[in-house]
Amino acid sequence: MPELKFLGHACFVLREGKHAIVFDPFLTGNPAAAATAEEIDCQYILVSHGHEDHLGDAISIAKRTGATIIATAEIARACIEKGVQTHAMHLGGKHNFDFGFVRITPAFHGSGIPGGHASGFIVNFYGKNVYHTGDTALFSDMALLGRLESIDIALLPIGDNFTMGPSDAAEAANMIKAKMVIPMHYNTWPLIAQSPEAFKKDVATRFNLPVHIMSPGDTYTL
Ligand code: NI
Ligand code: MN
Repeated sequence: MPELKFLGHACFVLREGKHAIVFDPFLTGNPAAAATAEEIDCQYILVSHGHEDHLGDAISIAKRTGATIIATAEIARACIEKGVQTHAMHLGGKHNFDFGFVRITPAFHGSGIPGGHASGFIVNFYGKNVYHTGDTALFSDMALLGRLESIDIALLPIGDNFTMGPSDAAEAANMIKAKMVIPMHYNTWPLIAQSPEAFKKDVATRFNLPVHIMSPGDTYTL
């Protein structure tokens, strides 16, 4: 069964045996990092946007492991210029890979790269659908995405200030109708301090949906 490991902030690893993909590998300089960039072993790196807390160590990991970076075209272009392998996609596009598929979802956020666009990902990994929203504001098309792809796990930012806060993330959880919600992008710095327990209680009270809280280093079996 595939495993989801949380490495802090918005960085997660999906693994099935030797097959692994990494989301937003911000480890160097991440006060909450549960691994170093050198410890990451993967075949694909998904980068939601060009901000340092998401692009992070993607280039160094790709160079060392030969992993392919999957991102929107402008971010992929910036990565190609650094000499790594990429698979460029864009908003609304879906592509099959050896682990399943990736659908690039819109995210309402800065791209961090001129001309680019922030994104999220719905990843089908060995039959399980994981929606990593990236950094985003709340948007009502999340309901449509939840209808188009039956989401097993939604990874939602709750940090506020730069992204959705807990109350909006609870609304997102309700729209996506994921079987499980996991909060991310909080408590890395004081500016995005939040209580995941309060978020869990709010989602349960208002929407009767389950939230699983992961500490950096925790693993969740899908
Ligand atoms: Ni950002
Ligand atoms: Mn961020």
